[in-house]
Amino acid sequence: MRIIGTGSARPSLVVTNAMLENFLDTSDEWIVTRTGIHERRVISSERLEDLAATACRNAMENAGVTPDQIDYIICSNVVNEYVTPGLGCVIQGMIGATCPTMDINCACTGFIYALDVAEAFLATKDIRNILIICAEEPTRMMNWKDRSSCILFGDAAGAVVATKGDDLKAIRVSTHCKVEALYQKRKLQPTPFVRKEEEDGGVVMNGQDVFKLAVSSSIKDIDKVLTMAGITPDDISLYLLHQANVRIIEAIQHFVQQDKSKFPVNLSKYGNTSSASIPALMDDLNRGNQLKTGELLLLSAFGAGFTTGACVLRWSK
Ligand code: COA
Repeated sequence: MRIIGTGSARPSLVVTNAMLENFLDTSDEWIVTRTGIHERRVISSERLEDLAATACRNAMENAGVTPDQIDYIICSNVVNEYVTPGLGCVIQGMIGATCPTMDINCACTGFIYALDVAEAFLATKDIRNILIICAEEPTRMMNWKDRSSCILFGDAAGAVVATKGDDLKAIRVSTHCKVEALYQKRKLQPTPFVRKEEEDGGVVMNGQDVFKLAVSSSIKDIDKVLTMAGITPDDISLYLLHQANVRIIEAIQHFVQQDKSKFPVNLSKYGNTSSASIPALMDDLNRGNQLKTGELLLLSAFGAGFTTGACVLRWSK
């Protein structure tokens, strides 16, 4: 596969750490020191599908393709207002495409999983372009009284158009069942037959466990994909890591012993936007002319599950 276009969209409301101090026992100093996050964009009046459609249109325009040239849509999403149909179906209609759509829920690792599926589809199916859209509103999953989790997240959509090519040099995805580290459960509709208690509420997260899992699994993934591609950390121009916590990014940077300048960070402005984080960062870099043709990028993400994934991608747009 080859990525030929990127797009993104974010909600208009900026929620600063100071605004959180109004209703949480927290401080700007604590949040910045522990996470690197200064502010995040939070959905207020927007709908997630509107952000997603904007990101898709931007990506198609950037790629120079029209909706009728998209032959598959892969949508990565954890939560949105529709339980059914899948968000990809809704987006397909909004952007005027007519191709099949498929939703995946691989939490924050969704973009890497989507790339893995896109690579297989492009290699085996008679299709020209795949639109990958990662659209997430994790702020709607939080318990806004839990200061250790709600401060971390923001909402966003990031999209790419992928076509046939050989830019994906190595990819690896994994799942290690560790539900208790990070989960959210919801009560389903009552029926005359249900005889069990169901849990309802916001995200439950053991931050320290997630932190350790994130660093150890990312290091393993990065090591593996570099070996699979037959290259060393020096050969990578930019490391596009899941934007969850700057301390996780620094730990990975320390492991690969590469200069800080190779690790673009935008989480200070946007927080953790789940699977939208890497494609939206990629779009920021692409539009800022910071991605150079022929350079190798390393993408790495982790999320609830516990899911993890990484890949080496040549940039040839
Ligand atoms: N403001 C002020 N104090 C806070 C706080 C906040 N927002 N959140 C937690 N605290 C307090 C805790 O209550 C605790 O107080 P105590 O010592 O009196 O019990 C203290 O700060 C330390 O908490 P701890 O959980 O040890 O902090 P930490 O250094 O591990 O940082 C996270 C917490 C959540 C920032 C960090 O663990 C993390 O980023 N984990 C990864 C989470 C993640 O990325 N999730 C998404 C995965 S896709």
